[in-house]
Amino acid sequence: MKPRFLITAGPTREFLDPIRFLSNRSSGKMGYALARAARPYGTVTLVSGPVALKPPQGVTVVAVTTAQEMAEAVLKRFDETDVIIMAAAVCDFRPRRVAARKIKKDGFSGLLELVPTVDILAALGKRKQHQILIGFAAETNDLESNAREKLRRKNLDLIVANDASAMESETNRVTLFYRDGRVERLSEMPKTRVAQAILRRIIALRT
Ligand code: CTP
Repeated sequence: MKPRFLITAGPTREFLDPIRFLSNRSSGKMGYALARAARPYGTVTLVSGPVALKPPQGVTVVAVTTAQEMAEAVLKRFDETDVIIMAAAVCDFRPRRVAARKIKKDGFSGLLELVPTVDILAALGKRKQHQILIGFAAETNDLESNAREKLRRKNLDLIVANDASAMESETNRVTLFYRDGRVERLSEMPKTRVAQAILRRIIALRT
Protein backbone atom coordinates (compact mmCIF):
# COMPACT_ATOMS: atom_id res chain seq x y z
CA MET A 1 0.00 0.00 0.00
CA LYS A 2 1.18 3.54 -0.76
CA PRO A 3 2.40 5.32 2.37
CA ARG A 4 0.48 8.22 3.86
CA PHE A 5 2.93 10.98 4.76
CA LEU A 6 2.47 13.68 7.36
CA ILE A 7 5.15 16.36 7.15
CA THR A 8 5.54 19.49 9.25
CA ALA A 9 7.37 22.60 8.12
CA GLY A 10 8.27 26.12 9.10
CA PRO A 11 8.36 27.91 12.44
CA THR A 12 5.62 28.34 14.99
CA ARG A 13 4.63 31.66 16.54
CA GLU A 14 3.98 32.08 20.24
CA PHE A 15 2.07 35.27 20.99
CA LEU A 16 2.56 37.63 23.92
CA ASP A 17 -0.18 39.99 22.81
CA PRO A 18 -2.34 40.38 19.66
CA ILE A 19 0.53 41.80 17.60
CA ARG A 20 3.75 40.36 19.04
CA PHE A 21 5.17 36.87 19.05
CA LEU A 22 8.29 34.75 19.66
CA SER A 23 9.45 32.68 16.71
CA ASN A 24 12.62 31.52 14.93
CA ARG A 25 14.45 31.79 11.60
CA SER A 26 12.95 28.69 9.94
CA SER A 27 11.96 29.37 6.30
CA GLY A 28 10.05 26.11 5.80
CA LYS A 29 12.10 25.27 2.68
CA MET A 30 13.29 21.87 3.96
CA GLY A 31 9.79 20.73 4.94
CA TYR A 32 8.24 21.95 1.67
CA ALA A 33 10.99 20.21 -0.33
CA LEU A 34 10.26 17.01 1.61
CA ALA A 35 6.54 17.30 0.83
CA ARG A 36 7.33 17.68 -2.90
CA ALA A 37 9.76 14.75 -2.78
CA ALA A 38 7.24 12.53 -0.96
CA ARG A 39 4.40 13.19 -3.41
CA PRO A 40 5.41 10.56 -6.04
CA TYR A 41 5.46 7.86 -3.35
CA GLY A 42 2.09 8.35 -1.67
CA THR A 43 -0.39 10.85 -0.24
CA VAL A 44 1.02 13.88 1.56
CA THR A 45 -0.39 16.18 4.23
CA LEU A 46 1.79 19.18 5.05
CA VAL A 47 1.16 20.87 8.39
CA SER A 48 2.79 24.24 7.95
CA GLY A 49 3.64 27.11 10.23
CA PRO A 50 3.65 30.65 8.76
CA VAL A 51 6.02 30.73 5.75
CA ALA A 52 6.32 32.66 2.48
CA LEU A 53 6.25 29.61 0.20
CA LYS A 54 3.84 28.36 -2.45
CA PRO A 55 1.85 25.24 -1.46
CA PRO A 56 3.28 22.19 -3.27
CA GLN A 57 1.00 20.70 -5.96
CA GLY A 58 -0.99 17.64 -5.05
CA VAL A 59 -0.33 18.08 -1.32
CA THR A 60 -2.96 18.81 1.34
CA VAL A 61 -1.75 21.84 3.29
CA VAL A 62 -2.97 22.49 6.83
CA ALA A 63 -1.97 25.98 7.99
CA VAL A 64 -1.22 26.43 11.69
CA THR A 65 0.37 29.19 13.73
CA THR A 66 1.24 28.06 17.26
CA ALA A 67 2.94 24.93 18.62
CA GLN A 68 -0.36 23.97 20.25
CA GLU A 69 -2.19 24.19 16.91
CA MET A 70 0.54 22.16 15.23
CA ALA A 71 0.32 19.52 17.97
CA GLU A 72 -3.46 19.23 17.55
CA ALA A 73 -3.23 19.04 13.73
CA VAL A 74 -0.57 16.31 13.88
CA LEU A 75 -2.00 14.21 16.72
CA LYS A 76 -5.44 14.21 15.12
CA ARG A 77 -4.01 12.62 11.93
CA PHE A 78 -1.45 10.32 13.53
CA ASP A 79 -3.42 7.06 13.44
CA GLU A 80 -4.07 7.38 9.69
CA THR A 81 -0.44 8.12 8.89
CA ASP A 82 2.43 5.79 7.97
CA VAL A 83 5.40 8.17 7.86
CA ILE A 84 5.77 11.34 9.94
CA ILE A 85 8.56 13.79 9.24
CA MET A 86 8.82 16.59 11.81
CA ALA A 87 10.84 19.17 9.88
CA ALA A 88 9.14 22.10 11.63
CA ALA A 89 11.10 24.32 13.97
CA VAL A 90 8.58 24.19 16.79
CA CYS A 91 9.09 26.87 19.45
CA ASP A 92 10.13 25.20 22.69
CA PHE A 93 8.63 27.95 24.87
CA ARG A 94 5.62 30.22 24.84
CA PRO A 95 4.67 33.18 27.02
CA ARG A 96 2.65 31.98 30.02
CA ARG A 97 0.04 34.65 29.41
CA VAL A 98 -1.20 36.14 26.16
CA ALA A 99 -2.34 39.69 26.86
CA ALA A 100 -5.77 40.43 25.37
CA ARG A 101 -4.61 43.92 24.42
CA LYS A 102 -1.34 45.33 23.12
CA ILE A 103 1.21 45.52 25.93
CA LYS A 104 2.11 49.20 26.42
CA LYS A 105 5.72 50.06 27.16
CA ASP A 106 4.70 52.15 30.14
CA GLY A 107 3.80 49.69 32.83
CA PHE A 108 5.65 46.69 31.28
CA SER A 109 8.09 45.20 33.79
CA GLY A 110 10.48 43.95 31.09
CA LEU A 111 10.09 40.38 32.29
CA LEU A 112 8.42 37.74 30.18
CA GLU A 113 7.48 34.46 31.80
CA LEU A 114 7.82 31.50 29.47
CA VAL A 115 6.49 27.95 29.80
CA PRO A 116 7.40 24.90 27.68
CA THR A 117 5.26 24.01 24.67
CA VAL A 118 4.21 20.44 24.04
CA ASP A 119 7.01 18.33 22.52
CA ILE A 120 5.05 17.00 19.56
CA LEU A 121 7.64 14.49 18.42
CA ALA A 122 8.11 13.04 21.90
CA ALA A 123 4.32 12.64 22.19
CA LEU A 124 4.25 10.84 18.84
CA GLY A 125 7.15 8.63 19.95
CA LYS A 126 5.05 7.48 22.90
CA ARG A 127 2.00 6.72 20.72
CA LYS A 128 3.94 5.13 17.87
CA GLN A 129 2.64 1.79 16.53
CA HIS A 130 3.26 1.00 12.87
CA GLN A 131 4.43 4.53 12.02
CA ILE A 132 7.92 5.49 10.89
CA LEU A 133 8.94 8.56 12.84
CA ILE A 134 11.56 10.98 11.58
CA GLY A 135 12.84 14.02 13.42
CA PHE A 136 15.22 16.85 12.67
CA ALA A 137 17.88 18.23 14.96
CA ALA A 138 19.27 21.70 14.30
CA GLU A 139 22.32 22.19 16.47
CA THR A 140 24.99 24.82 16.89
CA ASN A 141 27.30 22.44 18.79
CA ASP A 142 27.77 18.78 19.76
CA LEU A 143 25.67 17.72 16.77
CA GLU A 144 26.29 13.98 17.00
CA SER A 145 25.70 13.47 20.72
CA ASN A 146 22.64 15.76 20.73
CA ALA A 147 21.14 14.04 17.69
CA ARG A 148 21.67 10.55 19.13
CA GLU A 149 20.15 11.63 22.43
CA LYS A 150 17.02 13.01 20.65
CA LEU A 151 16.71 9.86 18.53
CA ARG A 152 16.60 7.72 21.66
CA ARG A 153 14.56 10.03 23.89
CA LYS A 154 11.85 10.66 21.27
CA ASN A 155 11.73 6.99 20.10
CA LEU A 156 12.55 7.85 16.46
CA ASP A 157 13.50 5.65 13.51
CA LEU A 158 15.71 8.30 11.96
CA ILE A 159 16.97 11.74 12.88
CA VAL A 160 18.27 14.23 10.33
CA ALA A 161 20.88 16.41 11.96
CA ASN A 162 22.11 19.67 10.53
CA ASP A 163 23.91 22.75 11.65
CA ALA A 164 21.53 25.54 12.68
CA SER A 165 23.15 27.69 9.94
CA ALA A 166 21.03 25.74 7.40
CA MET A 167 18.04 27.82 8.53
CA GLU A 168 17.06 30.29 5.76
CA SER A 169 19.69 28.72 3.45
CA GLU A 170 19.01 27.16 0.02
CA THR A 171 21.39 24.30 0.77
CA ASN A 172 21.84 21.86 3.61
CA ARG A 173 24.48 19.39 4.76
CA VAL A 174 22.85 16.66 6.84
CA THR A 175 23.92 13.61 8.78
CA LEU A 176 21.42 10.78 9.20
CA PHE A 177 21.37 8.78 12.44
CA TYR A 178 19.33 5.59 12.29
CA ARG A 179 17.72 3.67 15.14
CA ASP A 180 20.02 0.68 14.52
CA GLY A 181 23.12 2.84 15.03
CA ARG A 182 23.94 3.42 11.36
CA VAL A 183 25.25 6.88 10.45
CA GLU A 184 25.24 8.44 6.98
CA ARG A 185 26.82 11.78 6.15
CA LEU A 186 25.49 13.43 2.99
CA SER A 187 27.41 16.15 1.17
CA GLU A 188 26.11 19.72 1.02
CA MET A 189 23.31 19.95 -1.58
CA PRO A 190 20.32 22.12 -2.44
CA LYS A 191 17.43 21.34 -0.07
CA THR A 192 15.41 19.85 -2.94
CA ARG A 193 18.11 17.21 -3.46
CA VAL A 194 18.55 16.60 0.27
CA ALA A 195 14.80 15.98 0.43
CA GLN A 196 14.93 13.45 -2.42
CA ALA A 197 17.85 11.64 -0.78
CA ILE A 198 15.98 11.46 2.54
CA LEU A 199 12.81 10.17 0.86
CA ARG A 200 14.66 7.38 -0.93
CA ARG A 201 16.07 6.26 2.42
CA ILE A 202 12.67 6.39 4.13
CA ILE A 203 11.17 4.22 1.39
CA ALA A 204 14.04 1.75 1.84
CA LEU A 205 13.30 1.65 5.61
CA ARG A 206 9.74 0.49 4.84
CA THR A 207 10.77 -2.47 2.69
N1 CTP B 1 9.97 19.20 18.14
C1 CTP B 1 8.63 18.98 18.43
N2 CTP B 1 8.00 19.72 19.39
C2 CTP B 1 8.68 20.68 20.07
C3 CTP B 1 10.05 20.90 19.80
C4 CTP B 1 10.66 20.15 18.82
O1 CTP B 1 8.03 18.10 17.80
N3 CTP B 1 8.05 21.38 20.99
C5 CTP B 1 10.64 18.38 17.10
C6 CTP B 1 11.21 19.15 15.94
O2 CTP B 1 10.26 19.27 14.89
C7 CTP B 1 12.39 18.29 15.52
C8 CTP B 1 12.83 17.62 16.82
O3 CTP B 1 11.72 17.71 17.71
O4 CTP B 1 12.01 17.29 14.61
C9 CTP B 1 14.04 18.20 17.47
O5 CTP B 1 13.82 19.55 17.69
P1 CTP B 1 14.94 20.44 18.40
O6 CTP B 1 14.40 21.81 18.58
O7 CTP B 1 16.25 20.25 17.69
O8 CTP B 1 15.08 19.66 19.77
P2 CTP B 1 14.45 19.88 21.19
O9 CTP B 1 13.76 18.62 21.57
O10 CTP B 1 13.67 21.13 21.21
O11 CTP B 1 15.74 19.96 22.11
P3 CTP B 1 16.76 21.17 22.43
O12 CTP B 1 15.94 22.40 22.60
O13 CTP B 1 17.42 20.70 23.67
O14 CTP B 1 17.73 21.23 21.27
